[in-house]
Amino acid sequence: MTDPTDPKLLASRRGFLTGAAGLGGAALLGAPNALAGDPQNLPPNIPDWTRTLGDGVAVRAYGKPSKHEANVIRRDVQWLTASRESSVSFTPLHDLDGIITPNGLCFERHHSGIAEINPDDHRLIIHGLVDKPLMLSMEDLKRFPRVNRIHFLECAANSGMEWRGAQLNGCQFTHGMVHCVEYTGVPLRLLLQEAGLKTNAKWLMAEGADSSAMNRSLPLQKALDDCLVAYRMNGEMLRPEQGYPVRLVVPGWEGNIWVKWLRRIEVGDEPWYTREETSKYTDLLSDGRARKFTFVMDAKSVITAPTPQAPLKHKGFAVISGLAWSGRGKIKRVDISLDGGRNWREAKIDGLVLDRALTRFYFELDWNGEDLLLQSRAMDDTGYVQPTKADLRKFRGTNSIYHNNGIQTWHVLPSGEVENVEVS
Ligand code: MTE
Ligand code: CO
Repeated sequence: MTDPTDPKLLASRRGFLTGAAGLGGAALLGAPNALAGDPQNLPPNIPDWTRTLGDGVAVRAYGKPSKHEANVIRRDVQWLTASRESSVSFTPLHDLDGIITPNGLCFERHHSGIAEINPDDHRLIIHGLVDKPLMLSMEDLKRFPRVNRIHFLECAANSGMEWRGAQLNGCQFTHGMVHCVEYTGVPLRLLLQEAGLKTNAKWLMAEGADSSAMNRSLPLQKALDDCLVAYRMNGEMLRPEQGYPVRLVVPGWEGNIWVKWLRRIEVGDEPWYTREETSKYTDLLSDGRARKFTFVMDAKSVITAPTPQAPLKHKGFAVISGLAWSGRGKIKRVDISLDGGRNWREAKIDGLVLDRALTRFYFELDWNGEDLLLQSRAMDDTGYVQPTKADLRKFRGTNSIYHNNGIQTWHVLPSGEVENVEVS
């Protein structure tokens, strides 16, 4: 497995020009021939797989990707992994297309490992400032009216390591704390209506059944608006990693509040100020004050290919591909720069453009082998434009870890290799 902290893979901090001069070589161009495989299988020969019968139906009772896709996996970063139970793995964005993240590739963030819950023994309790406290089994939950919604989930710490400069070599690591799936679940509003809210109810506290009992305060208004108590992702039941059998879906808001393995919702009249919303997930500003409750994830985008893990392999026609998203609505437009932000051209958005979901964009390029400083810049339907990292730092200083939605730069070298850089 690639270790992105390997010094050879670490992003160049020498600035793009010296970086370019230092890393010549046409190693990658022409590489496809090397990948061509066994000539016996190429035309005009009859390949191995045409000469024999394949596996029959249901031999593969639960389907898996081809063995030739074995490197399309979640990865972690050693120096970010103090312990495996309280850590993060990253979505391989550079290896994916479209807007839906396959269930087995959704990044994971756990504070105390993956809770393995027997759904028959799991209950969701709703209590506090309600007329009728509820204790719901999974069967009870599945009897409520349900809806399907496609949304991104982004951890507030996504790109956090990039606040102080280009660090990690690959969009999997710089931007891979995001995924986008179709959730099936019950609108939280219906459960709260069933319990009956007292007139002084203003906040909820959601708590997980993992051993960290992770909990967060959620304003009642948001809960009544669009939150889901979800039990399915992409049609099948949630994966244990994603909170099986039930999690909170909080569209557009930071991932931390999407409590997994949801076991308790308490209704109150003020926030709880839990650990995760005080000492963590708050943004320390340069004057020493910290921003309280940054719930919404602002518009952001990233080019996913070419990137350090997905270099350019040919000169000539190439498709630049990437993702854009906004916690405030739909993506309206994405612009691409080939020269580090001096000139911008509009990218082509393709596929579904959904409210608070990943949105796929492409930009077609005839690449003559020149150095490129690739950037993407998202605009959402509120008119908000993704800022440069320099602009963000003007307002936020350099203490921040969370909520970095600055523009990413990838330096494409004449060899086709790509490195993570910053331009000033
Ligand atoms: N819920 C519980 N119970 N325990 C956790 O550790 N991690 C949170 C949130 N919900 C967490 C949790 C964080 S910080 C994030 S970013 C998201 O879950 C990650 O969701 P995922 O693992 O499905 O990607
Ligand atoms: Co998180």
